[in-house]
Amino acid sequence: MKHIVSGIQPTGSLNLGTYLGSIRNFVKLQDTYPEHHFMLFIADLHAITIPRDRLELRKTIRELAALYLACGLRQERLSLFIQSEIPAHSQMAHLLQCFTYMGELERMTQFKDKARRQETGVSAALFTYPVLMAGDILLYDAEYVPVGEDQTQHLELTRDVAERVNSRLGDVFTVPKLLTPKVGARIMSLTEPAQKMSKSDPNEKSRILLLDPEPLVRKRIMSAVTDSDTRIIYDKENKPGISNLLVMLSALTDVPIKALEEQFAQANYGTFKKAVADAVVDTLKPIQSRYQSLIKDPELDAFLDAGRDYAEKVAMRKVAKLNHKLGLGRKR
Ligand code: AMP
Ligand code: TRP
Repeated sequence: MKHIVSGIQPTGSLNLGTYLGSIRNFVKLQDTYPEHHFMLFIADLHAITIPRDRLELRKTIRELAALYLACGLRQERLSLFIQSEIPAHSQMAHLLQCFTYMGELERMTQFKDKARRQETGVSAALFTYPVLMAGDILLYDAEYVPVGEDQTQHLELTRDVAERVNSRLGDVFTVPKLLTPKVGARIMSLTEPAQKMSKSDPNEKSRILLLDPEPLVRKRIMSAVTDSDTRIIYDKENKPGISNLLVMLSALTDVPIKALEEQFAQANYGTFKKAVADAVVDTLKPIQSRYQSLIKDPELDAFLDAGRDYAEKVAMRKVAKLNHKLGLGRKR
């Protein structure tokens, strides 16, 4: 079975950047790749590389599971599961650490950013985070990995490690390919459009959360930082605020940016922002109502159990294969 694999960390509530850069893309890919099985997981082992409150973490894991489904993923050919329920992820991370160089990890920009922001000590796990991620992907022989632009470097490392293992031990892993969305791979902050929209930004006005109520969504978009002239055109350098809103509208409506520029050629910022707010609200409304019923539904747990059982089988086989190739344990 060919797999498409991706994960999201259960940290904070999901924002529009994660939705457009990642989840919305999965939903579309289910149509684009009708032969593939989708494996989406909640990366809770990744989340604890930075200290978390346990009750908050547990709540977010469930919320994220419900939101994944509420966003419109179809349940056939989909395994949704929680990373920590499958011990093979931790096992694979150790095995792959034996094939990863310190220098490679030292170059990871996300590590450098996160380490700089850490007020207490920086955990060794934050440093080896990309290896855990490589394991998540290689365990399932993922052919494609749909992620936002910020994960490109991690995916390149994954490919390098896979090729290194294959060249030392013979064919063990499929070398995965990156799949970023054409529009929306990097949604920027509403208050500082030079930075990506992020759940860790201390300014709440910088983002829209998928569960935000309509009036708040509208308020956030209407007060998004824009640029001093009045034209509605895509110019990332000189008009980062308007460009970001154009990207959002294009990603939400599947109308190309060029066509939107024409459509809003005569409009002022207020009219344009209202159209963006309408598009966000129209997208979020059905997601929020599906979420409210899914979060209470015991079927959610049954689906997560089935996802775990499928993933576990595939993952255990891969760990056993690598153990064998490495000469670990006894020959059977
Ligand atoms: P995270 O929430 O950091 O675990 O990221 C989950 C997924 O969403 C990853 O594929 C990220 O690349 C993607 N993502 C996160 N923030 C953004 C953003 N502002 N724009 C586009 N994609 C994003
Ligand atoms: N590191 C990713 C992020 O922060 C989440 C992630 C963990 C992931 N493991 C993965 C994404 C495997 C794709 C495949 O966004």
